[in-house]
Amino acid sequence: MRHHGTLSRVEHYFDRTATKAWEALTSDAPVSGIRATVRAGRDRMRETLLGCLPADLTGARVLDAGCGTGALAVELARRGAQVVGVDIAETLVEIARARTPQHLDITYRAGDLADPALGRFDHVVAMDSLIYYDDAELAQLIGLLRARTAGTIAFTLPPRTPLLMAMWRIGKLFPRADRSPTMVPHSPARVAAALRAARVPGCLSERGRITSGFYISTAFTHQEARA
Ligand SMILES: C[S@@+](CC[C@H](N)C(=O)[O-])C[C@H]1O[C@@H](n2cnc3c(N)ncnc32)[C@H](O)[C@@H]1O
Repeated sequence: MRHHGTLSRVEHYFDRTATKAWEALTSDAPVSGIRATVRAGRDRMRETLLGCLPADLTGARVLDAGCGTGALAVELARRGAQVVGVDIAETLVEIARARTPQHLDITYRAGDLADPALGRFDHVVAMDSLIYYDDAELAQLIGLLRARTAGTIAFTLPPRTPLLMAMWRIGKLFPRADRSPTMVPHSPARVAAALRAARVPGCLSERGRITSGFYISTAFTHQEARA
Protein backbone atom coordinates (compact mmCIF):
# COMPACT_ATOMS: atom_id res chain seq x y z
CA MET A 1 0.00 0.00 0.00
CA ARG A 2 1.06 3.55 -0.74
CA HIS A 3 1.80 4.55 2.87
CA HIS A 4 3.99 1.57 3.79
CA GLY A 5 7.36 3.30 3.22
CA THR A 6 6.43 6.08 5.64
CA LEU A 7 4.92 3.54 8.01
CA SER A 8 8.17 1.60 8.43
CA ARG A 9 10.05 4.83 9.26
CA VAL A 10 7.32 5.76 11.76
CA GLU A 11 7.54 2.33 13.36
CA HIS A 12 11.32 2.45 13.67
CA TYR A 13 11.19 5.95 15.13
CA PHE A 14 8.53 5.37 17.78
CA ASP A 15 9.49 1.79 18.59
CA ARG A 16 13.21 2.57 19.07
CA THR A 17 14.59 6.08 18.53
CA ALA A 18 12.03 8.19 20.36
CA THR A 19 10.34 5.72 22.71
CA LYS A 20 11.81 7.14 25.93
CA ALA A 21 11.22 10.76 24.93
CA TRP A 22 7.65 9.93 23.98
CA GLU A 23 7.04 7.98 27.18
CA ALA A 24 8.25 10.97 29.23
CA LEU A 25 6.31 13.55 27.22
CA THR A 26 3.06 11.63 27.65
CA SER A 27 3.56 10.98 31.37
CA ASP A 28 3.06 13.27 34.38
CA ALA A 29 6.82 13.45 34.98
CA PRO A 30 8.21 16.99 34.88
CA VAL A 31 9.62 18.02 31.52
CA SER A 32 11.44 21.22 30.79
CA GLY A 33 10.99 24.19 28.48
CA ILE A 34 10.00 23.32 24.97
CA ARG A 35 8.61 19.93 25.87
CA ALA A 36 6.38 21.42 28.58
CA THR A 37 4.80 23.71 25.97
CA VAL A 38 4.35 20.75 23.63
CA ARG A 39 2.68 18.76 26.41
CA ALA A 40 0.34 21.66 27.25
CA GLY A 41 -0.57 22.08 23.59
CA ARG A 42 -1.24 18.38 23.19
CA ASP A 43 -3.47 18.40 26.29
CA ARG A 44 -5.54 21.14 24.65
CA MET A 45 -5.63 19.25 21.36
CA ARG A 46 -6.89 16.12 23.11
CA GLU A 47 -9.78 18.21 24.48
CA THR A 48 -10.41 19.71 21.04
CA LEU A 49 -10.69 16.29 19.41
CA LEU A 50 -12.93 15.02 22.21
CA GLY A 51 -15.10 18.10 21.60
CA CYS A 52 -15.60 16.97 17.98
CA LEU A 53 -17.37 13.79 19.17
CA PRO A 54 -20.61 13.38 21.14
CA ALA A 55 -20.07 14.03 24.87
CA ASP A 56 -21.73 10.74 25.76
CA LEU A 57 -20.10 7.89 23.88
CA THR A 58 -21.87 5.12 25.77
CA GLY A 59 -21.79 1.99 23.65
CA ALA A 60 -20.02 3.66 20.71
CA ARG A 61 -17.18 1.73 19.10
CA VAL A 62 -14.27 4.15 18.67
CA LEU A 63 -10.87 3.59 17.09
CA ASP A 64 -7.88 5.49 18.47
CA ALA A 65 -5.75 5.28 15.34
CA GLY A 66 -2.08 5.66 16.26
CA CYS A 67 -2.88 5.58 19.97
CA GLY A 68 0.70 5.88 21.21
CA THR A 69 0.73 5.60 25.01
CA GLY A 70 -3.07 5.69 25.18
CA ALA A 71 -4.05 9.05 26.72
CA LEU A 72 -6.89 9.75 24.28
CA ALA A 73 -8.07 6.12 24.34
CA VAL A 74 -8.46 6.43 28.13
CA GLU A 75 -10.50 9.65 27.84
CA LEU A 76 -12.77 8.06 25.20
CA ALA A 77 -13.35 5.00 27.39
CA ARG A 78 -14.16 7.29 30.36
CA ARG A 79 -16.98 8.73 28.19
CA GLY A 80 -18.42 5.26 27.75
CA ALA A 81 -16.86 4.21 24.44
CA GLN A 82 -15.70 0.73 23.59
CA VAL A 83 -12.25 1.67 22.38
CA VAL A 84 -9.80 -0.09 20.11
CA GLY A 85 -6.35 1.51 20.33
CA VAL A 86 -3.97 0.59 17.53
CA ASP A 87 -0.38 1.63 17.00
CA ILE A 88 2.42 0.37 14.81
CA ALA A 89 4.94 0.88 17.65
CA GLU A 90 4.56 -2.19 19.85
CA THR A 91 6.61 -0.66 22.70
CA LEU A 92 4.18 2.25 22.96
CA VAL A 93 1.21 -0.14 22.91
CA GLU A 94 2.76 -1.98 25.87
CA ILE A 95 3.13 1.32 27.75
CA ALA A 96 -0.52 2.13 26.93
CA ARG A 97 -1.64 -1.24 28.28
CA ALA A 98 0.33 -0.73 31.49
CA ARG A 99 -1.06 2.79 31.99
CA THR A 100 -4.73 1.99 31.33
CA PRO A 101 -6.96 1.44 34.38
CA GLN A 102 -8.30 -2.11 34.22
CA HIS A 103 -12.00 -1.24 34.46
CA LEU A 104 -11.94 0.69 31.16
CA ASP A 105 -13.14 -0.97 27.95
CA ILE A 106 -10.05 -0.65 25.76
CA THR A 107 -8.51 -3.27 23.50
CA TYR A 108 -5.01 -2.46 22.31
CA ARG A 109 -3.49 -3.83 19.12
CA ALA A 110 -0.04 -3.47 17.59
CA GLY A 111 -0.40 -2.89 13.85
CA ASP A 112 -1.38 -0.60 11.02
CA LEU A 113 -4.32 1.68 11.69
CA ALA A 114 -5.50 0.97 8.13
CA ASP A 115 -5.90 -2.76 8.78
CA PRO A 116 -9.51 -3.71 7.86
CA ALA A 117 -9.34 -6.59 10.35
CA LEU A 118 -9.85 -4.00 13.11
CA GLY A 119 -13.50 -3.90 12.05
CA ARG A 120 -16.06 -1.12 11.79
CA PHE A 121 -16.39 1.91 14.03
CA ASP A 122 -18.83 4.65 15.00
CA HIS A 123 -16.01 7.20 15.25
CA VAL A 124 -12.25 7.38 14.72
CA VAL A 125 -9.68 9.70 16.30
CA ALA A 126 -6.13 10.09 15.01
CA MET A 127 -4.23 12.61 17.12
CA ASP A 128 -0.87 13.54 15.63
CA SER A 129 -0.60 10.15 13.96
CA LEU A 130 -1.31 11.11 10.34
CA ILE A 131 1.24 13.93 10.44
CA TYR A 132 3.97 12.03 8.58
CA TYR A 133 1.97 11.24 5.45
CA ASP A 134 1.87 13.27 2.24
CA ASP A 135 -1.38 14.37 0.61
CA ALA A 136 -1.84 11.20 -1.44
CA GLU A 137 -0.98 8.85 1.44
CA LEU A 138 -3.28 10.80 3.73
CA ALA A 139 -6.17 10.65 1.27
CA GLN A 140 -5.73 6.91 0.95
CA LEU A 141 -5.65 6.43 4.74
CA ILE A 142 -8.72 8.62 5.30
CA GLY A 143 -10.46 6.70 2.51
CA LEU A 144 -9.72 3.37 4.18
CA LEU A 145 -10.94 4.68 7.54
CA ARG A 146 -14.02 6.31 5.94
CA ALA A 147 -15.08 2.98 4.46
CA ARG A 148 -15.46 1.47 7.93
CA THR A 149 -16.57 4.48 10.01
CA ALA A 150 -20.21 5.51 10.33
CA GLY A 151 -19.67 8.85 12.06
CA THR A 152 -16.81 11.29 12.59
CA ILE A 153 -13.11 10.88 11.84
CA ALA A 154 -11.34 13.49 14.00
CA PHE A 155 -7.64 14.00 13.29
CA THR A 156 -4.82 16.50 13.36
CA LEU A 157 -2.31 17.77 10.83
CA PRO A 158 0.55 20.25 11.06
CA PRO A 159 -0.24 23.50 9.25
CA ARG A 160 2.23 24.98 6.80
CA THR A 161 4.24 27.17 9.16
CA PRO A 162 7.97 27.65 8.55
CA LEU A 163 8.82 27.76 12.27
CA LEU A 164 7.38 24.36 13.02
CA MET A 165 9.16 22.71 10.14
CA ALA A 166 12.48 24.36 10.97
CA MET A 167 12.28 23.25 14.60
CA TRP A 168 11.46 19.72 13.62
CA ARG A 169 14.29 19.54 11.08
CA ILE A 170 16.97 20.63 13.51
CA GLY A 171 15.72 18.02 15.94
CA LYS A 172 15.05 20.12 19.03
CA LEU A 173 11.95 18.19 20.02
CA PHE A 174 12.94 14.56 19.81
CA PRO A 175 16.04 12.47 19.12
CA ARG A 176 16.54 11.96 15.44
CA ALA A 177 18.01 9.26 13.28
CA ASP A 178 18.49 8.96 9.55
CA ARG A 179 15.37 6.88 9.28
CA SER A 180 13.21 9.30 11.27
CA PRO A 181 9.95 10.30 9.65
CA THR A 182 9.47 13.96 8.83
CA MET A 183 6.24 15.77 9.52
CA VAL A 184 4.49 16.94 6.39
CA PRO A 185 2.77 20.32 6.70
CA HIS A 186 -0.64 20.47 5.06
CA SER A 187 -3.08 23.06 3.80
CA PRO A 188 -6.80 22.27 4.12
CA ALA A 189 -7.42 23.08 0.45
CA ARG A 190 -4.81 20.60 -0.73
CA VAL A 191 -6.03 17.88 1.62
CA ALA A 192 -9.59 18.43 0.35
CA ALA A 193 -8.31 18.23 -3.25
CA ALA A 194 -6.41 14.99 -2.50
CA LEU A 195 -9.56 13.49 -0.95
CA ARG A 196 -11.55 14.42 -4.06
CA ALA A 197 -8.84 12.97 -6.34
CA ALA A 198 -8.95 9.72 -4.34
CA ARG A 199 -12.78 9.76 -4.59
CA VAL A 200 -13.23 9.65 -0.82
CA PRO A 201 -16.88 10.50 -0.11
CA GLY A 202 -17.57 12.98 2.65
CA CYS A 203 -16.82 16.41 3.94
CA LEU A 204 -13.62 17.84 5.49
CA SER A 205 -13.90 20.62 8.11
CA GLU A 206 -11.23 22.55 9.98
CA ARG A 207 -11.94 22.53 13.73
CA GLY A 208 -9.31 24.87 15.12
CA ARG A 209 -5.59 25.34 15.47
CA ILE A 210 -3.60 24.92 18.68
CA THR A 211 -0.34 26.82 19.03
CA SER A 212 1.65 26.21 22.21
CA GLY A 213 5.35 26.88 21.97
CA PHE A 214 6.56 24.49 19.32
CA TYR A 215 3.40 22.46 19.20
CA ILE A 216 1.38 23.74 16.26
CA SER A 217 -1.40 21.54 15.02
CA THR A 218 -4.77 21.86 13.32
CA ALA A 219 -7.80 19.73 14.14
CA PHE A 220 -9.99 18.42 11.33
CA THR A 221 -13.09 16.32 11.08
CA HIS A 222 -14.19 14.22 8.16
CA GLN A 223 -17.90 13.33 8.01
CA GLU A 224 -19.90 11.07 5.81
CA ALA A 225 -21.55 12.95 2.92
CA ARG A 226 -25.22 13.58 3.69
CA ALA A 227 -27.73 12.37 1.12
C1 LIG B 1 3.08 11.65 17.43
S1 LIG B 1 2.55 10.07 17.98
C2 LIG B 1 0.95 10.40 18.68
C3 LIG B 1 0.45 9.30 19.59
C4 LIG B 1 -0.91 9.53 20.25
N1 LIG B 1 -1.98 9.63 19.26
C5 LIG B 1 -0.87 10.77 21.08
O1 LIG B 1 -1.41 11.80 20.64
O2 LIG B 1 -0.27 10.74 22.17
C6 LIG B 1 2.13 9.31 16.44
C7 LIG B 1 1.78 7.85 16.59
O3 LIG B 1 1.16 7.39 15.40
C8 LIG B 1 1.59 6.07 15.15
N2 LIG B 1 1.32 5.76 13.74
C9 LIG B 1 1.62 6.51 12.65
N3 LIG B 1 1.19 5.90 11.54
C10 LIG B 1 0.58 4.76 11.92
C11 LIG B 1 -0.07 3.70 11.22
N4 LIG B 1 -0.20 3.71 9.89
N5 LIG B 1 -0.58 2.68 11.94
C12 LIG B 1 -0.47 2.64 13.28
N6 LIG B 1 0.15 3.61 14.01
C13 LIG B 1 0.67 4.65 13.33
C14 LIG B 1 3.06 6.10 15.57
O4 LIG B 1 3.59 4.82 15.80
C15 LIG B 1 3.00 6.97 16.81
O5 LIG B 1 2.83 6.25 17.99
